[in-house]
Amino acid sequence: MENKLSRNQFLKELGFKGASLLAIYCGASTLSSCTNESNTPTGGSVDFTLDLSTSANSGLNTVGNYLITNRIVIARISETTFAAVTQICTHENRAKVIYQKSSGEFYCTEHGARYTTQGVGLNSEGKRGITSYNTELTGTTLRVFS
Ligand code: FES
Repeated sequence: MENKLSRNQFLKELGFKGASLLAIYCGASTLSSCTNESNTPTGGSVDFTLDLSTSANSGLNTVGNYLITNRIVIARISETTFAAVTQICTHENRAKVIYQKSSGEFYCTEHGARYTTQGVGLNSEGKRGITSYNTELTGTTLRVFS
């Protein structure tokens, strides 16, 4: 009887600690980290800027390059235009979407879903499409927004 009680208490305590750890994880990280496995990886509206004059972002000054920030894949698709989509694939919600320079498409490395630069699905894996975002370059400041 005593053993049973202490086991229950132990489990209760374990459950409590587990819940606490989860809360700390979500609270200390960005919203997108908490919703990695959902269909809305960025948690709603998006609006941020990147300074392309900094070394961290300067890759985007070259056509065909891309970078991933805030769970969003941002690609330079021409001298004057960019494309941005969520990194989370709608096939099985993996954060595996990249930009493929050779095809000019977004591509999921997990099972091969293909998307246009507007996020429209191009094959059966990508048929649900993915969220795309607007981009606007002013000087060296690139704004990404929904
Ligand atoms: S998770 Fe992207 S193709 Fe399957």
